Amino acid sequence: MNLFNTHISEKSIELAVDVFKSGFISAGNVADEFERKLAEQLKITNPVTLNSGTSALHLALAVAGIKPGDEVIIPAQTFIATGFVVLMHYAKPVFADIQYETGNIDPVSIKQKITDKTKAVIPVHWAGYPCDMDEINAIAKQYNLAVIEDAAHALGAKYKGKPIGSISRFTAFSFQAIKHLTTGDGGALCCLNEGDYYHARRRRWFDIDRDNAKPSILGERVYDATSVGYKYHMNDIAAAIGLGNLEDFPSNLKRRKEIAIQYRNELKQIAGLQLLNYLNDRESACWLFTILVERREDFIRALNSKKVPASVLHTRIDRNSVFGGITQGLINQEKFNEYQVSIPVHEGLTDDDINLVIDSIKKGW
Ligand SMILES: Cc1ncc(COP(=O)(O)O)c(C=O)c1O
Repeated sequence: MNLFNTHISEKSIELAVDVFKSGFISAGNVADEFERKLAEQLKITNPVTLNSGTSALHLALAVAGIKPGDEVIIPAQTFIATGFVVLMHYAKPVFADIQYETGNIDPVSIKQKITDKTKAVIPVHWAGYPCDMDEINAIAKQYNLAVIEDAAHALGAKYKGKPIGSISRFTAFSFQAIKHLTTGDGGALCCLNEGDYYHARRRRWFDIDRDNAKPSILGERVYDATSVGYKYHMNDIAAAIGLGNLEDFPSNLKRRKEIAIQYRNELKQIAGLQLLNYLNDRESACWLFTILVERREDFIRALNSKKVPASVLHTRIDRNSVFGGITQGLINQEKFNEYQVSIPVHEGLTDDDINLVIDSIKKGW
């Protein structure tokens, strides 16, 4: 049993082979089709396919106009990429506290961290469970901040009936190898505004407007780059894998949700173990199943002895020297960091695997 699963469907292999045989492997019709299908199937707004989730976050900050010296509020409970993209713009990541019971950024703490230099906030949907987006977008509106949802864990999640990817100005997804929809490596940036969408499309490929900059008789496209552009596009090989996997995404997501429900029912009254507190107004994408556990090392050892993987994923990122050292006063973050551990929740698990996870935990640690 593995903690994560890399799902590559037969259809993905078939479509990728078609791309190899076509001789056209860069960004083209397949990437365009993947974008269309993402929007159609998942009801997300204007997805711009990219080569990683990190690129999606970095591009969003660029399109939002983040400048050196600006401040961007982020949680420390995330992967280091969320902080790095801010530094890449020579801006300052400011760490807000999280809610202990969800692992998500706390809107109250966001408000406390706002200064006149704050230009954006990046809420991370921990484990795939949506943050308090109404509260966060209200604060952003009041202080004129760009909201960039880091939805690397949250493809397929819903907040008050709306898909994540259709709510805030920007949403960044990751299709990295162990994500629940993989393209090998890849990502997408969703943009609510048409202007942002246009800029994101241009700037993902050297600020050249591929849709309109046609080659002249001389052969090269006629273009005039007006901003710094990047080489962030998704190629057709990756898009073919994504397109094939997209067909299985609904059933995979359903299976993850079923496993999560089973865990929540079976593990709700175990001494020393606390489930995260999930509200009924939102649906997690169940990329991770994080629990809060006392004597965590004993817990991991006990599960590993039964061949059940359990692992801490992403300890608080502000501990890294590159961010200037641990932010003091993040009370919930401190506690979460001490108790969080994740157990397997994915479509590759059999019923026997799930029962083994539950029984092993029930036997104690
Ligand atoms: C919360 C979070 N943000 C961003 C990323 C970066 O995504 P990618 O690996 O596709 O660049 C990850 C990757 O796992 C992540 O977990």
